[in-house]
Amino acid sequence: MKRKLIYFLLLLALIQACKKDKEINELYDPTPYDFVKVYRFPNIEVPTDNALTIAKVQLGRSLFYDASLSLSGNTSCATCHNQDFGFTDHELDLSTNDLGNFTSRNASSLFNLVWTDKGFFWDGRASSLELAVEDAINNEQHPEWDVTLANIQADPSYKTSFETAFEYGEVSRDNINKALASFIRTIVSQNAKFDLVTRAQATLTPLEQYGFDSIFVTEKGDCFHCHGVYPFMTDNDFHDNGLQGNGYADLGLGGFNGNAFDQGKMKTPPLRNLSYTAPYMHDGRFASLDEVIDFYSEGVNLTPNIDPLMKKAHQGGLQLSAYEKEALKAFLLTLDDPVFRSNVDYSSPF
Ligand code: HEC
Ligand code: HEC
Repeated sequence: MKRKLIYFLLLLALIQACKKDKEINELYDPTPYDFVKVYRFPNIEVPTDNALTIAKVQLGRSLFYDASLSLSGNTSCATCHNQDFGFTDHELDLSTNDLGNFTSRNASSLFNLVWTDKGFFWDGRASSLELAVEDAINNEQHPEWDVTLANIQADPSYKTSFETAFEYGEVSRDNINKALASFIRTIVSQNAKFDLVTRAQATLTPLEQYGFDSIFVTEKGDCFHCHGVYPFMTDNDFHDNGLQGNGYADLGLGGFNGNAFDQGKMKTPPLRNLSYTAPYMHDGRFASLDEVIDFYSEGVNLTPNIDPLMKKAHQGGLQLSAYEKEALKAFLLTLDDPVFRSNVDYSSPF
């Protein structure tokens, strides 16, 4: 009996000691971030071990714009994800990473990713935003982790920010990922003209309305099957839209998961903010929206894994008239969101 008591006391002492070792720092501030979402945008979910707090979002924003997370000290996330261009790279089909090499794909836009639920990157290789961030840092910025972490630890303002954002305040890779993911979760686009129309605060012009009613959401255009899920304007899923030739130069999802029937499938990009995000497609092959529309109209290839939803692929595409193309483009441009583009909460804090 006595023995048991001694063990128990020892255990208690041990727990106390551990607690002392890992004391929650005084600055820690778990105040939740007040996520503003409007009509028809669903509630958000975040991983249970990464609650969305104001402190984490602020820290993530600083890290996003901080080039000291790269080997050279010259490349930040914003180098390739620039707010002015819908968080893509300025008119570049491929970007230059921190080692001076081209990235293998066109830089993705970063908005409404808090609702992405089927995988990140064109090939879906990351299952959470935290993992996507880790992948992005290592593959695009090539940091020297020991040096980077030491630099951040030595910076008094970052020390304070990490202590405010995290219970134990560690400057660690895990916490950097969590903070960056938190910031990205707050980047939303929900104020395009088309959003205002759904809230009865604006109306489409006859041309835009024709593009929507008669092409976008009909069998004529078929865009809605993959890009029509309002409010995201993407189903977040992976499809082969007949872009590539027979031998896939980029295997996409199939290259990641090894399935032959997934070769050539890419994550469907959202059709918001297209005015800012040119060039288009995973390899940035189209410089303008006109080229994209011409592709869907006349340039579709019968690729091995072509999606059954590309119903007119056997005839090379939709065969739209000049007026139909113009109307489709006019509708697509109603998805530009200038409020998102100029939102200072997403801009550099430095
Ligand atoms: C050198 C340019 C470059 C830099 C720097 C860069 N990225 Fe990217 N980013 C890309 C490219 C290119 C892709 C698409 C890659 C792919 O799909 O294979 C991408 C894709 C992403 C995605 C996936 C988005 C989606 O819709 O699935 C996320 C998230 C992301 N980057 C976050 C970041 C973060 C955070 C940083 C900074 C730590 C960063 N990126 C730095 C070029 C860059
Ligand atoms: C079968 C699903 C599917 C259908 C139907 C479809 N798309 Fe796409 N769309 C995709 C996929 C997947 C991509 C990315 C392909 C790639 O980069 O390899 C894409 C890319 C795009 C892009 C480029 C966006 C960017 O940011 O790079 C635009 C614009 C676009 N589609 C518009 C349309 C329009 C307009 C229609 C109707 C005429 C349409 N799509 C029909 C799946 C589809």
